[in-house]
Amino acid sequence: KEIFLKDYKPTGYHFDTVELKFVLSEKKTTVVSKIRVLPRNSSESPPLVLDGRDVKLLFVKINGEERKLEEVELTSRHLTLKSLPVQPFDLEIGSEIHPETNLSLEGLYKSSSGMFCTQCEAEGFRKITFYQDRPDVMAKFTTRIEADKAQYPVLLSNGNLIDSGDLENGFHYAVWEDPFKKPCYLFALVAGQLTSRDDTFKTRSGRDVQLRIWTPAQDVPKTEHAMHALKLSMKWDEDVYGLEYDLDLFNIVAVPDFNMGAMENKSLNIFNSKLVLASAETATDVDYAAILGVIGHEYFHNWTGNRVTCRDWFQLSLKEGLTVFRDQEFSSDMGSRPVKRIGDVALLRTAQFSEDAGPMAHPVRPHSYIKMDNFYTVTVYEKGAEVVRMYQTLLGKDGFRKGMDLYFERHDGQAVTCEDFFAAMRDANSANLSVFLRWYSQAGTPILTVSTAYDAAARSYTVKCKQEIPSTPGQPVKEPTLIPLAVGLLNSKGEDMVLTELLDGGSLKSLKDTAGGPAKTAVLVVDKEEQEFTFLNLPEKPVPSFLRNFSAPVRLVTPTVTDDDLLFLLAHDSDEFNRWEAGQTMGRKLMLDLIPKAQRNEQLAVPSAFVEGMRRICGKGTNTSWRKRTDGLDGGCRSRCSTYCPKICDKRACVETEARFPENCEYRLIVTENRSSDPHYTFDHKNKARRSLKNLALGYLCSLDEADTTELALKEYKSATNMTDQFAALSSLCQNPGDVRDEALANFYEQWKDETLVVNKWLVLQSMSDIPGNVKNMRRLLDHPSFDMKNPNKVYSLIGPFCRTAVNFHAKDGSGYEFLAEVTLQLDKMNPQVASRMVSSLSRWKRFDEGRQSLAKAQLERIAKTDGLSENVFEIASKSLAA
Ligand code: ARG
Ligand code: ZN
Repeated sequence: KEIFLKDYKPTGYHFDTVELKFVLSEKKTTVVSKIRVLPRNSSESPPLVLDGRDVKLLFVKINGEERKLEEVELTSRHLTLKSLPVQPFDLEIGSEIHPETNLSLEGLYKSSSGMFCTQCEAEGFRKITFYQDRPDVMAKFTTRIEADKAQYPVLLSNGNLIDSGDLENGFHYAVWEDPFKKPCYLFALVAGQLTSRDDTFKTRSGRDVQLRIWTPAQDVPKTEHAMHALKLSMKWDEDVYGLEYDLDLFNIVAVPDFNMGAMENKSLNIFNSKLVLASAETATDVDYAAILGVIGHEYFHNWTGNRVTCRDWFQLSLKEGLTVFRDQEFSSDMGSRPVKRIGDVALLRTAQFSEDAGPMAHPVRPHSYIKMDNFYTVTVYEKGAEVVRMYQTLLGKDGFRKGMDLYFERHDGQAVTCEDFFAAMRDANSANLSVFLRWYSQAGTPILTVSTAYDAAARSYTVKCKQEIPSTPGQPVKEPTLIPLAVGLLNSKGEDMVLTELLDGGSLKSLKDTAGGPAKTAVLVVDKEEQEFTFLNLPEKPVPSFLRNFSAPVRLVTPTVTDDDLLFLLAHDSDEFNRWEAGQTMGRKLMLDLIPKAQRNEQLAVPSAFVEGMRRICGKGTNTSWRKRTDGLDGGCRSRCSTYCPKICDKRACVETEARFPENCEYRLIVTENRSSDPHYTFDHKNKARRSLKNLALGYLCSLDEADTTELALKEYKSATNMTDQFAALSSLCQNPGDVRDEALANFYEQWKDETLVVNKWLVLQSMSDIPGNVKNMRRLLDHPSFDMKNPNKVYSLIGPFCRTAVNFHAKDGSGYEFLAEVTLQLDKMNPQVASRMVSSLSRWKRFDEGRQSLAKAQLERIAKTDGLSENVFEIASKSLAA
């Protein structure tokens, strides 16, 4: 059944307080809930419809009086109660559930590790008990848990522990009370054999908060980084937004089988183990960074999500877009801002832009869904974060903070909408942004074409903008939206020109400066289909730097920007994001130019200015003027910027240039110079940047597949003292088939077979292989002892990366698609959420070539017509076929 935003109606009944009692056991779990119900209207009593799935109803009582079960309406999805009191009343419901057989990992389930845990967002609470499972129903929860004391010594839920003790038969109990009203999707329960790492945090106003991270005892040493990240997050939210933690206890629990990354349940965050556990030996720099970001993300939800929550699930981006924006800013402040920004934009472009151009394209606030779980997407999260970032770009950091303050002042304790957030931003700044709301309602990535003209006599520079939003399923026609276009203009020395005046259709617009001095970056507000802006008082023709820091999630087209301009920006732009961007644009142009030449077997040559520029970015080469230009470049940016070097400067392409990149041993130098003599692993930006450049160079060298490059990688592999370096060396070796690869993989598995998170990396490496014929190996790995279809991390490690390989997933014979369909159907019987993520790989089948189109379509059809398919997979498969 499809649900529509336009059909939203408030409920007829508020829930004021909820008392839950769980009796957990191996064979069944009973749940009794006692709810204080407040009818909205005291003159009539509409039916009260409660959601419930896979829950066995034991009894219903109203004001203590039992209702005969024949008198209530019970379907597989709802319990409907009629002829209810018009005055406040107590509703008591007894039910039975089976967490021990729940493989969907939503609701209450028993993890493979033996503990009970919950995942309720979006609609998992209905698998625990009958309830109005929607975020605008906010109540105060008290939770009593009873369980066997030996098997489940630790019993956790939201809020404060108010009572605990022993019971008969070896059972014990704990009672938790959460003083804050919350929607049921924030409910959590954990019971198991867990040990905690404990710490404390003193808030600005003097509250001492107990911090606990719970894991099985042997993993406690691996929680040091997560605890550090938590304390950094708490401090950062105080410093940047004035937001403090609001309880005396904050718990994090790590579970090995979890559908998503993590969940922000009030005071009891539950995390996928891979986003908590880290040690230098077992986790990479990428893992450490992800942990920092996600610990921050879930913590920040306490205000943006929990204290102020969503009215309905269409508003998901209200909390997710905002919280992703906050975690991005947090990670930037803790590490390197440009490197973080480059990574975020790269993800947006590869994942979100393609989602926005495919059959599942939807606005940041979707208009409808069949299964909400399918809308936890890069559009809602990452494009949503870009939408929030645009407020900040338009209103300035201070203006944005004023908007946030007003948002909390108005809406603390409420379930609200994206318009409410918009209105707070607008009202706090007396801004007129009405066109901006279209970012929430229109899908598709706008194409922004910007061209320029300099008038020497008038000393003016005109920037002409044109925007176009492509049509998407269900949205053939689009209106122009409001695009903040950040512009810098460089003089011939490469310095930012001072931007004093802007003639805008006759009226002057004030220019915003990001740093505080005279305006060097102007934010042009593009809100019409076609628009012109004219800068005045410019003594010379500038080189323009458009869309600085990626000021809007658009595809930028710049017909008047020349190759020389790009090389100039690569060398000089004060906006580091745009320096990277210029190198990428230039590199891509060269590649596209070289491919047909290579196909015609022509001689290939790369402009020496580009080669020299790239060498300089790596810190090599002879030209001293480049040395100067790149010296200030962030180490991580160097690594980021170099991604086009080997492709462009491969052996053939470089024969005619003096550069001869790989052969002249500069990559070897990069490897040796960036080794560390210190065996101790430090996770900081300097060391990350160093490792990343070294390992990138090593990978490029190994792509040559020569005896000495293999030898070098083997040496790096054996001497590595941390997982970042060890895994990078292994990945380099694995590019080429052969005995060396096989032996390295076997050696790695033997070393790490007891560390499930490390074994997952081993699975990834084999699954993402571009060596032809890998489907056979994939089938073998499905039966390998390290694989388990019931564990989402295993599926994401083995199946996910396979679907991103051009060679094997898209094998001409269709074997890749067939493999995916088989796995999807098998998985769907256990875990529809994960199965649905897998089937998404086929959704863009219309972009494939003709032969592959029909092969992929056949597999989609096979899936869609399977009996007993979940709604999750059905929605993706059918929408993909329909588009
Ligand atoms: N709120 C969680 C987070 O982003 C994600 C929950 C995902 N739930 C789901 N059913 N997909 O932090
Ligand atoms: Zn979130």
